[in-house]
Amino acid sequence: MSKALDALFPTSRITRDASDLAHWGSDRTTAYQAAPSAVVFPETLDEVVALVRLANAEGFALVPSGGRTGLSGGAVAERGEVVVSFDRMNRILGFDAAERLARCQAGVVTGALQAFAEERGLFYPVDFASSGSSQIGGNIATNAGGIRVIRYGLTRDWIAGLTVVTGAGDVLRCNNGLVKNATGYDFRHLFIGSEGTLGLVVEAEVRLANPPGPQRVMVLGCPAFDALFQSLSAFQQHVTLSAFEFFSDLALTKVRTARDLPPPLRDACPFYALLEFDESALDAASSAFERCLEQGCVADGVLSQSDAQAARLWALREGISESLAPQTPYKNDLSVRLSDMPRFLEAADALISQAYPEFEVCWYGHIGDGNLHLNILKPPGWSEQAFLERCHRVSPELFRLVAEHGGSISAEHGVGLLKRDFLGYSRSPEEVALMRALKTVFDPNGVMNPGKLLG
Ligand code: MLT
Ligand code: ZN
Repeated sequence: MSKALDALFPTSRITRDASDLAHWGSDRTTAYQAAPSAVVFPETLDEVVALVRLANAEGFALVPSGGRTGLSGGAVAERGEVVVSFDRMNRILGFDAAERLARCQAGVVTGALQAFAEERGLFYPVDFASSGSSQIGGNIATNAGGIRVIRYGLTRDWIAGLTVVTGAGDVLRCNNGLVKNATGYDFRHLFIGSEGTLGLVVEAEVRLANPPGPQRVMVLGCPAFDALFQSLSAFQQHVTLSAFEFFSDLALTKVRTARDLPPPLRDACPFYALLEFDESALDAASSAFERCLEQGCVADGVLSQSDAQAARLWALREGISESLAPQTPYKNDLSVRLSDMPRFLEAADALISQAYPEFEVCWYGHIGDGNLHLNILKPPGWSEQAFLERCHRVSPELFRLVAEHGGSISAEHGVGLLKRDFLGYSRSPEEVALMRALKTVFDPNGVMNPGKLLG
């Protein structure tokens, strides 16, 4: 493999240096040891095609690598694979003003696309804490969600065209940026969320939106889980929300300690909701707040008076994940329908407190989308292995509850390595069999991200 691979890339764009292998061979999932055999940095579609064809001819595996901000091990290379980094394919190649489409290489950083849109008076609404380093190709591979899904949807909703190289080395140009295209199977949507198991996303046509007007942020203190849903429904009756996030008091304590931030409210509450909405809806939001106070589903609240204060309130939510990282959290990323949420939470809370009496448990997430992040924190004296084994023993019980409530064991982080053994809790045997069959069609020799998603 080495000689032919070396012939494909100049020495400046292939590395076997140990620290490079560790860096590009892992993502933000700490449970796995990176062990790729090489990292390559293609610059053109033709190079990607040649690489995939070589992998087929010589039988080596490829792991696509974007910003490596994933939390399910989807970009981990632990078995001598060749990592395909898109860091050198990070240009926005064109802009169609009439269609408001940006043509992006896979390695364009999300934040760079957001800035590109802003310079043209437009808006790319998919946003999350890691948008400063995550890449469009990775967002597409995982159908990334984030903090504004309640108003703008997921990455899938903004992808108007895709250029992919299948696992067999064929180039597919899917949908060409069209709004309407009723010509059969839309392979674009098959590749979105496929976690690099069918092929490599090389280019995307991304739709941009009109920017919303000025936004206001509110943080509400809520006495219980139920109260969060009552508040959500009270606000949604009259206000178009751009975000409705939540976090527990423990999550707040962690982020405040890590970043030395002041509390949002005078008295602590068990849970907090963070809302964002158009400034033009301020009166309606204030009335909803008053009604929530009267009904007792909100104990207190704060409203941003400036963009700087809004950013400080957002930091309380967006900084949580990073503040937990030193405690090696075991991440659960669950979703259920809002109507099933109160029953699910009651059952999940009972299970978690009985299963993990000695562990700290942090709840936060995008509750307006029915998406809960449940992080179990490793106590200082525990080895990572013992901690993982313990969490893996509890996971089936939790996922059984998720399944009983019609939910998903991975709402937005993907399946990767971390959740692949649990896929059956969310997808039927028939669905998994069809996924395997599709994998064989697009990647007949199994060179694309083996072991991820389907195992
Ligand atoms: C978040 O919502 O903060 C991200 O999905 C990261 C995480 O879950 O830790
Ligand atoms: Zn999230």
